[in-house]
Amino acid sequence: MLTEKETPQSTEVLAALRQVVADSYALLGQTHICHWNVRGPGFFALHEAFEQQYTELFTAVDDIAERVRALGALAPGGLSNLAKMSQIDEIEEDAPAEKMVKHLADANRALVANLVVARNLAGEADDDQTEDLMIERLQVHEKTIWMLDSYLVH
Ligand SMILES: [Fe+2]
Repeated sequence: MLTEKETPQSTEVLAALRQVVADSYALLGQTHICHWNVRGPGFFALHEAFEQQYTELFTAVDDIAERVRALGALAPGGLSNLAKMSQIDEIEEDAPAEKMVKHLADANRALVANLVVARNLAGEADDDQTEDLMIERLQVHEKTIWMLDSYLVH
Protein backbone atom coordinates (compact mmCIF):
# COMPACT_ATOMS: atom_id res chain seq x y z
CA MET A 1 0.00 0.00 0.00
CA LEU A 2 1.41 3.34 -1.02
CA THR A 3 1.30 6.26 1.39
CA GLU A 4 -0.08 9.63 0.34
CA LYS A 5 3.42 10.88 -0.55
CA GLU A 6 4.25 7.77 -2.56
CA THR A 7 3.22 7.11 -6.12
CA PRO A 8 4.48 4.31 -8.38
CA GLN A 9 6.65 6.98 -10.03
CA SER A 10 8.17 8.25 -6.79
CA THR A 11 8.93 4.64 -5.78
CA GLU A 12 10.90 4.26 -9.01
CA VAL A 13 12.71 7.55 -8.37
CA LEU A 14 13.65 6.37 -4.88
CA ALA A 15 15.00 3.04 -6.14
CA ALA A 16 17.09 4.86 -8.74
CA LEU A 17 18.35 7.36 -6.14
CA ARG A 18 19.33 4.58 -3.74
CA GLN A 19 21.26 2.96 -6.62
CA VAL A 20 23.07 6.27 -7.19
CA VAL A 21 23.97 6.40 -3.48
CA ALA A 22 25.43 2.88 -3.63
CA ASP A 23 27.38 3.55 -6.84
CA SER A 24 28.66 6.91 -5.59
CA TYR A 25 29.82 5.30 -2.35
CA ALA A 26 31.56 2.52 -4.29
CA LEU A 27 33.25 5.06 -6.57
CA LEU A 28 34.31 7.06 -3.52
CA GLY A 29 35.94 3.95 -2.02
CA GLN A 30 37.62 2.97 -5.30
CA THR A 31 38.97 6.49 -5.80
CA HIS A 32 40.32 6.55 -2.24
CA ILE A 33 42.14 3.22 -2.74
CA CYS A 34 43.69 4.58 -5.93
CA HIS A 35 44.78 7.74 -4.07
CA TRP A 36 46.65 5.55 -1.58
CA ASN A 37 48.13 2.96 -3.92
CA VAL A 38 48.94 4.81 -7.14
CA ARG A 39 52.63 4.56 -8.08
CA GLY A 40 54.87 5.74 -10.89
CA PRO A 41 55.81 8.94 -12.71
CA GLY A 42 52.22 10.26 -12.54
CA PHE A 43 52.08 9.81 -8.77
CA PHE A 44 51.89 13.43 -7.63
CA ALA A 45 49.26 14.50 -10.19
CA LEU A 46 47.09 11.39 -9.72
CA HIS A 47 47.40 11.27 -5.92
CA GLU A 48 46.16 14.89 -5.84
CA ALA A 49 43.45 14.46 -8.50
CA PHE A 50 42.05 11.35 -6.78
CA GLU A 51 41.92 13.23 -3.49
CA GLN A 52 39.89 16.04 -5.07
CA GLN A 53 37.54 13.47 -6.60
CA TYR A 54 36.86 11.46 -3.43
CA THR A 55 36.52 14.62 -1.32
CA GLU A 56 33.91 15.99 -3.74
CA LEU A 57 32.12 12.62 -3.75
CA PHE A 58 32.01 12.50 0.04
CA THR A 59 29.95 15.71 0.14
CA ALA A 60 27.84 14.66 -2.84
CA VAL A 61 26.87 11.25 -1.50
CA ASP A 62 25.65 12.98 1.66
CA ASP A 63 23.41 15.27 -0.40
CA ILE A 64 22.03 12.36 -2.45
CA ALA A 65 21.34 10.22 0.64
CA GLU A 66 19.61 13.19 2.28
CA ARG A 67 17.45 13.61 -0.82
CA VAL A 68 16.37 9.97 -0.33
CA ARG A 69 15.42 10.88 3.26
CA ALA A 70 13.59 14.03 2.15
CA LEU A 71 11.47 11.84 -0.13
CA GLY A 72 10.55 9.70 2.86
CA ALA A 73 12.70 6.59 2.34
CA LEU A 74 15.77 5.33 4.18
CA ALA A 75 19.26 5.68 2.76
CA PRO A 76 21.07 2.41 2.00
CA GLY A 77 23.84 1.70 4.49
CA GLY A 78 26.49 -0.77 5.55
CA LEU A 79 29.59 -1.42 3.46
CA SER A 80 28.61 -4.98 2.48
CA ASN A 81 25.07 -3.90 1.59
CA LEU A 82 26.36 -0.97 -0.49
CA ALA A 83 28.89 -3.25 -2.20
CA LYS A 84 26.12 -5.74 -3.06
CA MET A 85 23.90 -2.99 -4.48
CA SER A 86 26.65 -1.23 -6.39
CA GLN A 87 27.14 -1.94 -10.08
CA ILE A 88 30.76 -0.74 -9.98
CA ASP A 89 33.61 -3.27 -10.14
CA GLU A 90 36.45 -3.25 -7.63
CA ILE A 91 40.04 -2.34 -8.49
CA GLU A 92 42.96 -4.57 -7.49
CA GLU A 93 45.11 -2.73 -4.98
CA ASP A 94 48.34 -3.36 -6.94
CA ALA A 95 46.96 -2.14 -10.29
CA PRO A 96 49.36 0.03 -12.31
CA ALA A 97 48.54 3.75 -12.54
CA GLU A 98 47.08 3.68 -16.07
CA LYS A 99 44.85 0.74 -15.20
CA MET A 100 43.59 2.70 -12.18
CA VAL A 101 42.75 5.71 -14.32
CA LYS A 102 40.98 3.52 -16.90
CA HIS A 103 39.12 1.69 -14.14
CA LEU A 104 37.96 4.93 -12.52
CA ALA A 105 36.90 6.40 -15.88
CA ASP A 106 34.79 3.28 -16.50
CA ALA A 107 33.40 3.42 -12.94
CA ASN A 108 32.39 7.04 -13.54
CA ARG A 109 30.72 5.94 -16.79
CA ALA A 110 28.75 3.25 -14.93
CA LEU A 111 27.61 5.85 -12.42
CA VAL A 112 26.66 8.24 -15.23
CA ALA A 113 24.42 5.54 -16.74
CA ASN A 114 22.55 5.19 -13.45
CA LEU A 115 22.42 8.97 -12.97
CA VAL A 116 20.74 9.25 -16.38
CA VAL A 117 18.13 6.68 -15.29
CA ALA A 118 17.47 8.61 -12.05
CA ARG A 119 17.36 11.97 -13.87
CA ASN A 120 14.84 10.66 -16.43
CA LEU A 121 12.61 9.02 -13.83
CA ALA A 122 12.66 12.20 -11.71
CA GLY A 123 11.72 14.21 -14.81
CA GLU A 124 8.81 11.89 -15.57
CA ALA A 125 7.66 12.14 -11.92
CA ASP A 126 7.86 15.98 -11.98
CA ASP A 127 10.38 15.77 -9.15
CA ASP A 128 12.37 18.87 -10.14
CA GLN A 129 14.67 18.85 -7.11
CA THR A 130 15.85 15.28 -7.71
CA GLU A 131 16.16 15.92 -11.43
CA ASP A 132 18.27 19.01 -10.70
CA LEU A 133 20.51 17.10 -8.29
CA MET A 134 21.04 14.34 -10.84
CA ILE A 135 21.90 16.89 -13.55
CA GLU A 136 24.42 18.50 -11.18
CA ARG A 137 26.02 15.09 -10.52
CA LEU A 138 26.08 14.27 -14.24
CA GLN A 139 28.01 17.47 -14.92
CA VAL A 140 30.62 16.57 -12.29
CA HIS A 141 31.07 12.98 -13.47
CA GLU A 142 31.16 13.83 -17.16
CA LYS A 143 33.92 16.33 -16.37
CA THR A 144 35.80 13.71 -14.33
CA ILE A 145 35.54 11.25 -17.24
CA TRP A 146 36.97 13.86 -19.61
CA MET A 147 39.91 14.46 -17.26
CA LEU A 148 40.64 10.76 -16.67
CA ASP A 149 40.34 9.93 -20.38
CA SER A 150 42.66 12.84 -21.20
CA TYR A 151 45.34 11.43 -18.90
CA LEU A 152 45.30 8.22 -20.93
CA VAL A 153 46.03 9.88 -24.29
CA HIS A 154 49.63 9.30 -25.44
FE1 LIG B 1 45.46 11.27 1.63
